[in-house]
Amino acid sequence: MVNVAILGFGTVGSGVAEVLCGHESSIARKADGLIRLKYILDVRDFPDSPFKDCFVKDFTVIENDPEVDIVVETIGGAGVALDFTRRALEAGKSVVTSNKELVAAHGYELTRLAQEKGVCYLFEASVGGGIPIIRPLSQCLAANEILEIYGILNGTTNYILTRMIRAGLSFEAALAEAQEKGYAERDPSADVDGHDACRKICILAAIAFGRHIYPEQVPTEGIRGISLADVDYAESAGKKIKLLGRAIRLDDGRVCAYVAPHLVDQSDPLAGVEDVFNAITVRGDAIGDVMFYGRGAGKLPTASAVVADVMDVARNLGHRKALLWDEGGQDAAGGVAEFKSRWYVRAAATADELKHALGGKLPAGRGTGDGEAACLTDEAMTRAELDRRLAGLEPLSVIRVLD
Ligand code: NDP
Ligand code: HSE
Repeated sequence: MVNVAILGFGTVGSGVAEVLCGHESSIARKADGLIRLKYILDVRDFPDSPFKDCFVKDFTVIENDPEVDIVVETIGGAGVALDFTRRALEAGKSVVTSNKELVAAHGYELTRLAQEKGVCYLFEASVGGGIPIIRPLSQCLAANEILEIYGILNGTTNYILTRMIRAGLSFEAALAEAQEKGYAERDPSADVDGHDACRKICILAAIAFGRHIYPEQVPTEGIRGISLADVDYAESAGKKIKLLGRAIRLDDGRVCAYVAPHLVDQSDPLAGVEDVFNAITVRGDAIGDVMFYGRGAGKLPTASAVVADVMDVARNLGHRKALLWDEGGQDAAGGVAEFKSRWYVRAAATADELKHALGGKLPAGRGTGDGEAACLTDEAMTRAELDRRLAGLEPLSVIRVLD
């Protein structure tokens, strides 16, 4: 029998307990033995929980119990979660997590520590919620040189954009719904300002390109600046606005990674990804493009990925499963300033002024005639070149176009 302790009984942790215990016999069959939930650590009391006999308040109980083989960390953040993860690994226990903030900031150190201790540190749920992406990228696509990864990596912002467009909800109302459904981070600005997607693209880039990329190295922009006028202009140009994370391998070996809203063509499969769903495209030199799609957040979808990692560890107990990459550094990431795109610009200008500055197409939209106009450039250019051409005009919105 394999014993598990869950740290943090919130949205994901409670889902893990539910799936682990609810599917006990089929999990035992597939994992070659019983997996028992022995402890749950949380700061709160849950007297009515069916798991009430498992609760403890002191991490040392788990740390010092030699029967505990696997610790599931679903507290979140890089504070106490880092301390508990280090201590669990030091104590020779494997750790499974959904905590992308921790993996993006400390994944290099924690995977090395796990290797040193002969245990596992697995984090399938840290990117894409329930979508299998870490294991396919590190195993099924291992024969490829990965050229690029991009996609919709945050369920909350995709949910907000979908609700704003489809139901005409305000940004605040759509965010409140996402929080209610358990999709948002504890501090939802991590979703809205793009930091969550940034952490996820860092993790994917480390696995795909072999070096740790730190969130501070990834220029990040969220969806706060997107207005319904932008959505309207985009639609009249046959496009949709999506928040994307991108990581591209440059010829000089650096990784060009950034997070920003993009105008995506209606014919692109990403345009049809709505609600809490995420989609991640991986471009390999042998396979070409492969896309992963599914629920990017939520209690049970995320628990599905966490429990699968737990089963993987249980099945291979004593045989370490290593997911390793090299140390990061200044030279690991860069090139965003030189990266060329076509651009969408909405500005407090006449259509003639914009056309004169940028050329390109002028989509119709609700702003037309209200002292503003919008334009889609024909030419790909750097942001610096775009700003130079816009000199003297007042841009209200500037968004990259995905080509
Ligand atoms: P929650 O806030 O719902 O759950 C965290 C739980 O940990 C809460 O019950 C919290 O208690 C508890 N906790 C806080 N501090 C401690 C402590 N010192 N010791 C023990 N327990 C503590 O978060 P989620 O379940 O939503 O997220 C957990 C992790 O999973 C995060 O890293 C998140 O980014 C990630 N994730 C979340 C997804 C989702 O859809 N929600 C999807 C994929 C990943 P209290 O509330 O009282 O502070
Ligand atoms: N807050 C995250 C999201 C949770 O909305 O995508 C899943 O990582």
